[in-house]
Amino acid sequence: MNKVVTNIRENLTTRKSLPFEKVKVMPASYYTSDDFLQLESDHVFRRDWVCLGRADELKQAGDFYTTELVGEPLLVTRGKDDQIRVLSNVCRHRGNIVASGHGNRSRFTCNYHAWTYDLDGELVAAPLMSKVKAFDQSSCKLPSFKTEIWLGFLFVNLDGNADPLAPRLSSLMPYLENYDVADRAHGFTEQTSWETNWKCLAENFMEGYHLDATHPTTLNPLTPSGLCEYVPSDGQFNAYYSYYDPNYPERGPFPPNLTEKEKRCSFMFGVFPNLVAAAAPNILIYLCLSPKTNNAVNVRWGMSSLPQSEGITKDQRDFMNLVNAEDKVKLEAMQKGLQSHYFVPGPFSNEHLEGPIVDMYRYMASRLGSDIDLG
Ligand code: FES
Ligand SMILES: [Fe+2]
Repeated sequence: MNKVVTNIRENLTTRKSLPFEKVKVMPASYYTSDDFLQLESDHVFRRDWVCLGRADELKQAGDFYTTELVGEPLLVTRGKDDQIRVLSNVCRHRGNIVASGHGNRSRFTCNYHAWTYDLDGELVAAPLMSKVKAFDQSSCKLPSFKTEIWLGFLFVNLDGNADPLAPRLSSLMPYLENYDVADRAHGFTEQTSWETNWKCLAENFMEGYHLDATHPTTLNPLTPSGLCEYVPSDGQFNAYYSYYDPNYPERGPFPPNLTEKEKRCSFMFGVFPNLVAAAAPNILIYLCLSPKTNNAVNVRWGMSSLPQSEGITKDQRDFMNLVNAEDKVKLEAMQKGLQSHYFVPGPFSNEHLEGPIVDMYRYMASRLGSDIDLG
């Protein structure tokens, strides 16, 4: 293991046990190193539960979309049995990519030699192969990965060895219960990429310190930095309450059990490693992140509405596009800054504003710290 990676791993381990006040921002290499990204891909993204989006993006049998996770092309389908499957989108003949885009289909034909698969990944046709002795059609199925749906979010586990997700997130549940996240209805999803490290975007979504300066006319009048309240983590998630300015109008309609307090805040939560989300009274916003390169992140993001409402409005979508654009400018500039040889990591502000970042450090330390045997 090279020196840079060893240093990052030692830095993570140090931060595991220090109180928040003593923790400094991680060295720049944590956000820029290509070698460290390799470890993240192999020991975090291939081993842990990774969120792809909302399960109800695929409504009917035959609905599908394609995406990518740490270089793995994925084909996500809803089968005739109503099950959602995450399949390897790599042809069992010679490795071409089978499907692209999204839509509704009962079969997927690889456009190289026309091998054809059904929604379960079963090979159903292979031209001119019937007389080939070595060919066993039934064994040429697209590999299918382990999935779990938690509160309507679709998670995949590439190596198939992760323990069930829901029990791990039990201490997050009381905070989310009244927001009825599982019932929120799909509005839209977009796939895009930003020129920033995936962790920078995860941290940005989960800290309220930047709200005033980065979003002066969008989020500051709604959720000013000064009203953020840190929620302690048990190591599986990070979270904070983003309270609404008392002058801001109500954000109804409300889920039936929402308390008066919950009507006046968004519950911001991250499920490690890659889901960050905002449960607001009337909408759900989520970003599913995965590394594209050390300096770029793939983002599948979207919004869901209350089931009884009219869906995501154009105004709501435009507002989020504006907020995202404001973040993107800052994060892409910061990614340049982090590549400077002269950046010296600074101190954090306070736990209410930046505490969730340190919770994410501790999660990363639990997977990649210098005390962890990576085999
Ligand atoms: S690679 Fe797909 S049919 Fe040949
Ligand atoms: Fe932001």
